[in-house]
Amino acid sequence: MFIPKITVVDFMGTVEKEFEVEKGTKLLKALIDQGVDLVHTCGGNAKCTTCRVNIDVGTPTKETVAQKELFTKRVSWGLPQFSAPRMFLSCQLLVEHDMEVSPMERYNSIIHDDGVGKDTSDEITPDPAWVDLERG
Ligand code: FES
Repeated sequence: MFIPKITVVDFMGTVEKEFEVEKGTKLLKALIDQGVDLVHTCGGNAKCTTCRVNIDVGTPTKETVAQKELFTKRVSWGLPQFSAPRMFLSCQLLVEHDMEVSPMERYNSIIHDDGVGKDTSDEITPDPAWVDLERG
């Protein structure tokens, strides 16, 4: 059985952590369970974008409709960085293959000391509908 490997790199490209994860695990959940302290303010509900990651190796070719709509809205607000082809919401992604992941907003434990930003769900919320990635 294939077991995907996640490589977490910092913004300088330095490898911070490597771990294997069961195929089909939600990426945000996998990162949190491995102690990667990334912000996820809306609790994994495709509302905030703070759980963003860049995926430079193993970039997915599909995205959820919820992510696509959120990024499209941000671009319409004058934020073109949300059209970057390798940027994904970790709460809107299932690990299907090896990936190199760079979390963009760190230290949830410092920013939210009141329980905000806790995502304990194994499932993607809202129920995912998948579309081909058209950014880039
Ligand atoms: S969009 Fe808010 S945690 Fe993913």
